[in-house]
Amino acid sequence: MKNLDEQSKKNAYRLFESGDIERVEVGSFMGLAQIHRYLFDGLLPFAGQMRTQNISKGNFRFASALYLAESIKKIETLPEATFEEIIVKYVEMNITHPFMEGNGRSMRIWLDLLLKRRLGKCVDWRKVGKRAYLSAMERSPVNDLEIRTLLHGALTDEIGDRELYMKAIYRLLKNAMKFVMYLSLVFS
Ligand SMILES: Nc1ncnc2c1ncn2[C@@H]1O[C@H](COP(=O)(O)OP(=O)(O)O)[C@@H](O)[C@H]1O
Ligand SMILES: [Mg+2]
Repeated sequence: MKNLDEQSKKNAYRLFESGDIERVEVGSFMGLAQIHRYLFDGLLPFAGQMRTQNISKGNFRFASALYLAESIKKIETLPEATFEEIIVKYVEMNITHPFMEGNGRSMRIWLDLLLKRRLGKCVDWRKVGKRAYLSAMERSPVNDLEIRTLLHGALTDEIGDRELYMKAIYRLLKNAMKFVMYLSLVFS
């Protein structure tokens, strides 16, 4: 488990550092699957593949495996022009939980790509408390107000900075440290 976390985090570094992130399709399941495959290739037997079993967390049962493909198709057509719309899309995609494991990590990167592409912003995950985030996500299938408020308060338009330190991770120590923090929060 620890190994999985560390290895997938290394893969996430590579995803950004290599610039491969620029080739990820934004807002679609294909893009999400690309991210998942990149993070978990060789680590999970189902990297990048939709689950075929039903899963739940806490009291919540995620979308039935039987209807997963159908649900995902509908979610892909949802609008993504405003912050509110993007959150709705994110929450809906989370409800499908398309993979057996690793949905949280892949989906936060997927969300950041959407925000960046559509709004020129992304989440500063340093400003998002782990507990508050989890409780907002647990609440989100019923009401997305909490997660919307939490993430809205953490939006930054410093995506230029982010791009810079993603690319220059090993060259600029200060920026690299910021990036390490970004990833550890995306992965928390
Ligand atoms: N009860 C819940 N209801 C809805 N979403 C949840 C619930 N519990 C956790 N989540 C979401 O699912 C993610 C965890 O899913 P998981 O597949 O284990 O991903 P990872 O392995 O990357 O953490 C959390 O980060 C959160 O976004
Ligand atoms: Mg997990």
